[in-house]
Amino acid sequence: MTTEAPSPKTAITLCGSLRKESINEPLRRLMSNKLREAGVEVTDLDLRDFDMPIFNQDIEETGETPEAAKRLADMFRSYDIVFIASPEYNGGVTPLIVNMISWVSRQKPNPFKHAIFGIGGVSDGKYATIFALSHLRDSLSKLGALVVPTLLGIGPYPDVFDENGEPNEANIKWKVGQTVRELTHFSRGGI
Ligand SMILES: Cc1cc2nc3c(=O)[nH]c(=O)nc-3n(C[C@H](O)[C@H](O)[C@H](O)COP(=O)(O)O)c2cc1C
Repeated sequence: MTTEAPSPKTAITLCGSLRKESINEPLRRLMSNKLREAGVEVTDLDLRDFDMPIFNQDIEETGETPEAAKRLADMFRSYDIVFIASPEYNGGVTPLIVNMISWVSRQKPNPFKHAIFGIGGVSDGKYATIFALSHLRDSLSKLGALVVPTLLGIGPYPDVFDENGEPNEANIKWKVGQTVRELTHFSRGGI
C-alpha cells in the first residue's frame, strides 16, 4: 500500500475578454482564488500570451498553425480543470473564445477529453451571460468536453463584487462554491 499523499489537482483559468477594464477578469481571478483555497494548484492564463490569427483552414494547410494553439492544447490535455470566464456578445461568446476553440479543436489528440471544464461570465445585462454560456457548453460538449452542470452567470454589473472581489449576493457566493465543488469533485484524466 502506498503512503504517498495524492498530488493536488491542477487548474488553468482564462478570460474571454482582452479589455483592460474587463468585468470578466475579476470573475477569473475569483475562481482562481477559490480553487486555490480548495487545494488546487492554479495557473492564471492571459490569452494575450496566446496570439492566434483569425482561424482560416488555409493557414493550417500551409503548416502555419500558431505555436500558441499547440501550447494551449497541451495545457488542456495536462491540467485537471479548465475554467473559462467569458462575456456575452450578441447572445453568444466572444470572437476571442470562438477563435481560441477553433484553433485548439484542430490539434491532435483531442485536447478537450482530459480536463473538467467550468464556465461562467459577467454581463452588464440582466440575463447574466446565460445565452452565451449555453452556446459555450454546447460547443465544448460537442468537442467531447465534460462541462460541470453549474453555469456561473453573474449580472447585471456593476455591484456584483465587493472591494475584495467577493460576490455581493448570497446566491452568487453559493454558485461560486458549487462550481468549485463540482470542478474538484469530478475527475477525468487519462484520456
Ligand atoms: C459586441 C458586443 C455585444 C454585446 N452583447 C451583449 C449581450 O448579448 N448580452 C449582454 O448581457 N451584454 C452584451 N454586451 C455588453 C457586455 O456585457 C459588456 O460590454 C461587458 O463589459 C463585456 O465584458 P468585458 O467587460 O469582460 O469585456 C455586448 C458588448 C459588445 C461589445
